[in-house]
Amino acid sequence: MTGRDGARTQTKDYMSNKTKPRVLAVVGARPNFMKVAPIWRALENHGGFEQRLIHTGQHYDDNMSKVFFDDLRLPRPDVYMGVGSASHGAMTGKVMIEFEQIVTDWRPDLVVVVGDVNSTMACTLVSVKMGIPVAHVEAGLRSFDREMPEEINRMVTDILADLLLTHSPEAEPNLVREGVSSEKIHFVGNVMIDSLMFYMPEAEKSSIHETLSLEPGKYGLVTLHRPSNVDDPAQLTPIFDALATIGADRQLIFPVHPRTRKVLENNKIKISTDRLRLVDPIGYLDFLKLMKYSSIVLTDSGGIQEETTALEIPCVTIRENTERPVTVYTGTNVLAGTDRDRIVEAALQSLGDGVKGSRVPDLWDGKAAERIVGVFENYFLNEQ
Ligand code: UD1
Repeated sequence: MTGRDGARTQTKDYMSNKTKPRVLAVVGARPNFMKVAPIWRALENHGGFEQRLIHTGQHYDDNMSKVFFDDLRLPRPDVYMGVGSASHGAMTGKVMIEFEQIVTDWRPDLVVVVGDVNSTMACTLVSVKMGIPVAHVEAGLRSFDREMPEEINRMVTDILADLLLTHSPEAEPNLVREGVSSEKIHFVGNVMIDSLMFYMPEAEKSSIHETLSLEPGKYGLVTLHRPSNVDDPAQLTPIFDALATIGADRQLIFPVHPRTRKVLENNKIKISTDRLRLVDPIGYLDFLKLMKYSSIVLTDSGGIQEETTALEIPCVTIRENTERPVTVYTGTNVLAGTDRDRIVEAALQSLGDGVKGSRVPDLWDGKAAERIVGVFENYFLNEQ
């Protein structure tokens, strides 16, 4: 047998003769959970791997972590580190110390990390130093802005990882430019969209519109948590001004990230009104439903730029750059920057025009995790 089916047959033979390859997946923060869930499921369905899940506990509040395990039906992690909040150095160090022990105890054959949070980089560093190969899911994204903590995490992770699993066309040239060999790079598609498609039927049953008294299609959705936008009230004020103006046209719902909440509280900033309603962070299924029926999304998140493109909902990104340009040149995203007038203009234009000529990028089709498991299979075959 040849091709992919052939590889599967051989891998099954190999795996039935020997112990199953041990795959250790890492989650740490909110955007990791929906990326790991489809990979976990695809590995379970395949049956040829032994897997464990580690949660570093970078995000620890119930509404930033537990609700996602429940919504995504992720198993309880085999190890929960509980590193909690700390400076970047302290957090990375704590994760490294604990993860080294976990790797020593379990000796995985492959460590899987996703995205660009501190936990991603910390576990990659430990693994490669211990000779354990790393697969990086969502490799090759670059904002070219080194003031963004995630950019450093992406660069370090990508230069060290053994399997670079990418989801957009610019990822490979970005990686090759930094010296990564093309042989390590596999264009597999977008696992976040696997989750979006898999869980949408469940999300449709959510009663979040009733809970928040919202009419589908008649509201906009806001998220803001980037340090560059929220840590300094002087930066935050013009953004809130813009949101207040847009709110006059369209009611806005704003689930507030703990980082942003702290800045608001510490600076006694009160902005919640009927037109710009601040609520607590929202679980995965409820948030999917809110996104699907919003008329516009205003965000500085990375993942939400992708989810709105997949859902074909207009998105205004409140940042000067994006590591996800495919959402701009192919999808529904408009990069507005952080200037008050530009945000208002972009939002009103998007609300007026809707989405024109956008399409869902290639391989954002709900099957990325299956392709990732195919890459793992071939990797272990070729290793023998
Ligand atoms: C982190 C990631 C970012 C990701 C975001 C999603 C890094 C460098 N940043 O940023 O890439 O987009 O998560 O949310 O890894 N906090 C709580 N409860 C929690 C989690 C955090 O109160 O459950 C507070 C912490 O005390 C901290 C602040 O929120 O002061 C920020 O948390 P942190 O994990 O440092 O960074 P994020 O801004 O969440």
